[in-house]
Amino acid sequence: MKKNIVVLISGRGSNLESIISAANKKNFPAKISLVISSNRSALGLKIAEKNHIKNFVVEQKEFSNNELYEEDLIGKIVQQDPSLICLAGYMKILSKKFINKFKDKIINIHPSLLPDYKGLNTHERAIRAGEKYSGCTVHYVTEELDGGKIIAQERILISPSDTPETLSRKVLEREHIIYPKTIESLLS
Ligand code: GRF
Repeated sequence: MKKNIVVLISGRGSNLESIISAANKKNFPAKISLVISSNRSALGLKIAEKNHIKNFVVEQKEFSNNELYEEDLIGKIVQQDPSLICLAGYMKILSKKFINKFKDKIINIHPSLLPDYKGLNTHERAIRAGEKYSGCTVHYVTEELDGGKIIAQERILISPSDTPETLSRKVLEREHIIYPKTIESLLS
């Protein structure tokens, strides 16, 4: 039987879509049993709908504080008994309490060669610094932002003509391969 995974998103959802396509294959060890978006207007919600995946919007602004927001999130996630929680463009920082609740089960994909370029605007910063390579990294989520143990990483050559947009497209293409592949190897 396939294991459950929960995917947390905030926006476009292209990584979500790549995990859905992989999970549709018979031999993939998991299925997405729930998608939660921190943002009502996330395009990724449409992708979940189209693929008949249960989805919720849980917006921080509906709660008087972050603890209550996360309690609601935890309640919804626990019901799925997930083997993994995959952050895919989820733009909120999770608390220690949340991370400890799902110890070693939360992973994220980040568009840089971690530990370089944690945080936002990774492509712009890498190009500006004259880096030869960029890439993407799948890592465990810990309290340190983008600082958890690296699980998988792919390197991509930055060409002199690359802009943050072209580099982002190249890296994203690779993200769509490495993220499902990593999930598959973690859960097989
Ligand atoms: C990706 O670049 C991912 O690496 C980063 O956020 C972006 C999400 O894109 N964490 P999408 O919503 O999966 O299209």
